[in-house]
Amino acid sequence: MAASINRRGFIGSAAVTGASACLATSVVPGTTEASVSAASVSAASGAGAAAAASEKAVVEWPVWNETDEKALLDVLNSGKWGRSAAARRLPEFEATFAAKMRARHCIATASGTTALLTVMGALGIGPGDEVILPPYTFVATFNAITSSYALPVFVDSDAESFQIDPKKIDSAVTSATKLLLPVHIGGSPADLDAIMAVARERKLPVIEDACQAPLAEWRGQPVGTIGLAGCFSFQASKNLTSGEGGAILTNDETFANQCYNFHTPGGGRPAPSSGRGANYRLTEFQAGLLLSQWTRFAEQSGQRDTNAAYLTKLLEEIPGISPARLTAGCTRSGWHLYMLRYDRTQFANLSRAGFLKELGRQGISASGGYSSLNNSNHVRALAGNPHYIRIYGKEVMENWVERNQCPVNDLLCEEAVWFTQTRLLGPADGMDRIADVIRDIQKRSGDLAKAE
Ligand SMILES: Cc1ncc(COP(=O)(O)O)c(C=O)c1O
Repeated sequence: MAASINRRGFIGSAAVTGASACLATSVVPGTTEASVSAASVSAASGAGAAAAASEKAVVEWPVWNETDEKALLDVLNSGKWGRSAAARRLPEFEATFAAKMRARHCIATASGTTALLTVMGALGIGPGDEVILPPYTFVATFNAITSSYALPVFVDSDAESFQIDPKKIDSAVTSATKLLLPVHIGGSPADLDAIMAVARERKLPVIEDACQAPLAEWRGQPVGTIGLAGCFSFQASKNLTSGEGGAILTNDETFANQCYNFHTPGGGRPAPSSGRGANYRLTEFQAGLLLSQWTRFAEQSGQRDTNAAYLTKLLEEIPGISPARLTAGCTRSGWHLYMLRYDRTQFANLSRAGFLKELGRQGISASGGYSSLNNSNHVRALAGNPHYIRIYGKEVMENWVERNQCPVNDLLCEEAVWFTQTRLLGPADGMDRIADVIRDIQKRSGDLAKAE
């Protein structure tokens, strides 16, 4: 067990590395949590002690203690390690998560991706169907759609909130659209009023990709429970984690049974079948760990709320720094990421890479977040995929890249700056330090820009 103890007495590991790296498709070298070690920063001229102090303000992730150790050993010694009639932790975690998130049903899955694959399978999404998603998301949202050979259709982002632009959804719907798949990116809710209104009008189901958003709320209701279902991830960087893991929440009993049956061979719950299925089960070890991680989740989330609100107050006063706006009905963010836009014109034209580098030099690790997903090699490759050409035709696939251009999102990807959730778990003066360092960079931006 690792031995560093943060101020609330938790014992944590030094495994911050995955947090930013897994999430960001473009992380500016030298600015990840992992690469800005206190030692490397103190070697940099001028920034030394303060930089080392800044890094200490980041709580190491994940956090665990002997409760978690016992939870894992209890499963080991039970000899019941997987989903079976004898499993205890899986149903207990599902009941706990469903109750806290005020959903009738929860199905634990192996990951957020397999939660998404399961709902796609249960909905019968397949070749010929179109699914609407935002471009400002992790590639897994896209992969879940293409795993079913459905056609992903990107709807541009709203630059201020970083969320899918609800005004652009309706015009992307066609007779082939079978699903709206909004993402609550960064843990903050997408505009669910507007999304649900389009869904009602067009008679389409909504699955919320809430992988980053446990405990986020829309008008007081936990996200992931407003559409037909919500999918969550407990991957290593997530605010609630078991290394890998996921869950589906829904209030629809038949759909819950369909998901259950899809995710475990021979599920056997009463529900119509499509003849397809998989093994996407969580283990008892992960469920046990999630239950013990759960005991500190509320406190950690409260800490993030307080720090994020304070950081926003500080940053809003700095010209050229625009924290991501929370959508109008957001009553709580899950604060998986703290996202903002950086306007270089207010920093003597210092590039974002230069800004991130200087932040890192002063011990504030940050990244540039996602790069343009719809223009990535991975996504563009779909246009040449022989199965897709066979299903949709060459012309449709040739036009698909053009149809999916998202100019607002392209700009957002160039301007975004992220802090990870671990920084929001540090003390409040860590927020002051972020604002102080940014103000200092702004003052020196002329010189910094000249040196680029
Ligand atoms: C928005 C989003 N969707 C889907 C996923 C996939 O979750 P997982 O990594 O657990 O498969 C993630 C997490 O990494 C995510 O951030």
